[in-house]
Amino acid sequence: MNHPEDTTGKRPVPGAVLLVHTPAKLNLGLRILGRRPDGYHDLETVMVSIGLYDSLLFRLAESSEVGLSCRFIGPSARSAAAATLLSGSPTRNLVVQAARLLQRRTGCGLGVDITLCKRIPLQSGLGGGSSDAAATLVALNRLWRLRLSRSELHALAAELGSDVNFFVDSPLAALCRGRGERVEPLRMGHRLHAVVVCPNSGLSTAAVFAEWSRTVAAAEGPEASLHQLSRALLEGGRLAGGRRKTVNDLEAPARRLSGDVDAILSQLGRTGGGAFGMSGSGAACFLLCRTAPEAKRLAARLRRMLRGSVFAVSSRT
Ligand code: C5P
Repeated sequence: MNHPEDTTGKRPVPGAVLLVHTPAKLNLGLRILGRRPDGYHDLETVMVSIGLYDSLLFRLAESSEVGLSCRFIGPSARSAAAATLLSGSPTRNLVVQAARLLQRRTGCGLGVDITLCKRIPLQSGLGGGSSDAAATLVALNRLWRLRLSRSELHALAAELGSDVNFFVDSPLAALCRGRGERVEPLRMGHRLHAVVVCPNSGLSTAAVFAEWSRTVAAAEGPEASLHQLSRALLEGGRLAGGRRKTVNDLEAPARRLSGDVDAILSQLGRTGGGAFGMSGSGAACFLLCRTAPEAKRLAARLRRMLRGSVFAVSSRT
């Protein structure tokens, strides 16, 4: 996450506020290495942090309550999942869960009112919920003066979800292993530019993994090429041998579950530009471009052909 703007003094004072902008991610590649006894899957994935942000305003509350209000703007406003989240119980939101987890584990009696301004589309595989949860852990650690170490924050992050650890430090790029919670930062030799296409209806991560399990007889062995492939993308934005398709083992199940994902990937294959694929468990797909203007131009073209949110984005610097 970005450095929060801390306006607090030495001790938490009612009304003290913190504003945090927390990024989305793209998975340049994702391999499933096998099922685990705990019901999760071991995986290997390369994530890149991108310049699309949710904003969270944390205001210290008078009581020990955790309050949350959400606004949906930009690319997230179209998603059908946004309407569901607005009408759903806030306790299911990962932001509230992160705040309550901190209270429980530290015995902190302070509360907070959180305003979440969502730009990152929901159920898109762009990591918005995980990023918001990580931002909440890091921000409340400061606002509530909890003094938890980075490794203590990472332990809590892993309890909240598989992608939350990536966003605790939000490296520019990282190779993530285990459930996704073991994060090894990678060097990024080249700024990436992309068009992201996000259908209006998202995909549930659990449903996509379940579909993968249903249809894959035996887990494939680890493939060394994910690292090579991602290296090529991180260094030059292109794959070797004129190949354009990235590797994502969740793509086939996602295409079966969503006609929109299938149509988008087919269209991206027929469009110019560089490598393309799906991010995480979907439903957002991306097309890498050589430059930011090329990404803007192709986004405008794809917007006329596809439904959903279509936008140009660059990796962070
Ligand atoms: O960890 P997170 O809550 O984001 O995962 C959502 C769901 O996705 C899990 O309940 C699980 O069904 C599936 N999942 C998985 N293996 C992973 C990550 C997620 O099976 N490594």
